[in-house]
Amino acid sequence: MCYAIPGKVEKIEKKTVIVDYFGEKRKALNELPQISVGDYIYAQGGFVVSKISVSEAESILAVWKETFFQLQEVDLRISRLNLGDKNTDKNLLEILDKASQSKELSRDELLCLLELKDQSKLELLLKTANFLRQKYHKNSCCVHGIIEISNHCIRGCQYCGISYHNKELQRYRMTKDEILKSAQVAVQEYGFKSLVLQSGEDPGYSVDELADIIKEIKDKFPTLVFISFGEIGIGGLEKLYQAGARGLLMRFETSNPKIYEDVHPGQNLESRLMHLQQAYKMGYMIITGGLIGIPGQSKEDILNDIFLAKELHAEMFSFGPFIPHPHTPFAEIKPVQHPALSDRPVRASRASAQVEEAVKVLAVARIVDNTQAKILVTTALETLSREAAKSGLLAGANSLMLNVTPLAYRPFYSIYPNRAHQSENITAQIDSAVMLLRSLGRAPTDIETIL
Ligand code: 5AD
Repeated sequence: MCYAIPGKVEKIEKKTVIVDYFGEKRKALNELPQISVGDYIYAQGGFVVSKISVSEAESILAVWKETFFQLQEVDLRISRLNLGDKNTDKNLLEILDKASQSKELSRDELLCLLELKDQSKLELLLKTANFLRQKYHKNSCCVHGIIEISNHCIRGCQYCGISYHNKELQRYRMTKDEILKSAQVAVQEYGFKSLVLQSGEDPGYSVDELADIIKEIKDKFPTLVFISFGEIGIGGLEKLYQAGARGLLMRFETSNPKIYEDVHPGQNLESRLMHLQQAYKMGYMIITGGLIGIPGQSKEDILNDIFLAKELHAEMFSFGPFIPHPHTPFAEIKPVQHPALSDRPVRASRASAQVEEAVKVLAVARIVDNTQAKILVTTALETLSREAAKSGLLAGANSLMLNVTPLAYRPFYSIYPNRAHQSENITAQIDSAVMLLRSLGRAPTDIETIL
């Protein structure tokens, strides 16, 4: 989005460029033909997205220069870790101390973290995760825009509000022109550098039509394109890669094959994972993860989910809370909690308990994967509470997604009810994201730092 910093190309080694941001060196993959040393570029998600003129870059950098270092200081201050409290459980302090030194934790230790319920202990876990986020990812935060191009879906996922179970929903499918217009607005008017195109599994678009749309977006509005159209087959993935897509957002939802089959009638985990593995081999950047709190899920399952996301080489983890939708078979299902909700003090409402559960998962994910993955604050988490995005960013997360779907369609992309940002225009979303990021000392650079 517009909250992005241009970098200067310092070195080119085949397809890799070294980019300078106020003295910090970062690495990105370049596929643009016309890049030379000394050029200014925007990079996103590890890819060079576009080149910008020296005069434009210099005027943007002049504004950023002071702010950049101020933000880093704020972040450093907020993410300081003190594990010296003698009153806290010794066992927990030992686990967190080990985690803070990036030593690998055992399964039992990680499960113990997922079981935490005491507020002060939980706080220490989140602080440790935030410390590790700062240590390895600095104050970088990436911000993607998502365009939900169609809410038609042939799948019967039991929890999902756009599945075929929802007979009440008004369905829409954006035309090619509408999609291109939305991409243009996001990239040219608002400065997004990365777009996710998402839909239900909708045979209403052929792979060739999707390829055509992606190609035109890439030609006209330089941006990193992620696809999120469900299981489009290996041939489909290949075609869309050739068309210019470089990222795949596809959750495996759960690593437990039995739960997977129960909640996704007629589908299996193997096919899901095969898509993710093949996409990675093709060169796609992978965003994946699971639902937190779906029926039958144990804390061991959640830990396995985190390990699976890592095993799938996720560039970004996307773990979000399950929110029951009234027009699905899971309308009356209460999200699973660890520890059980009944163990909690009465004051904890269901939503705040779910936020707590979700940020705990983000924090454990950050401990499992210190260095590689970005962690997304999901819209589902933001839906549970206005403060949740901040909580997530302070629990190891370093990525946000803003909704750039035309406002007229947004209410119909009802995967769960009352989604955050449902009726917020793009400017309002950017303003609040920028305010939040600034208050936490985060900057919009999201490519790998070379130390
Ligand atoms: N609650 C939370 N997330 C949901 N999704 C679908 N339905 C729900 C729900 N009821 C998520 C799925 C899917 C993503 C697009 O939306 O994890 O991968």
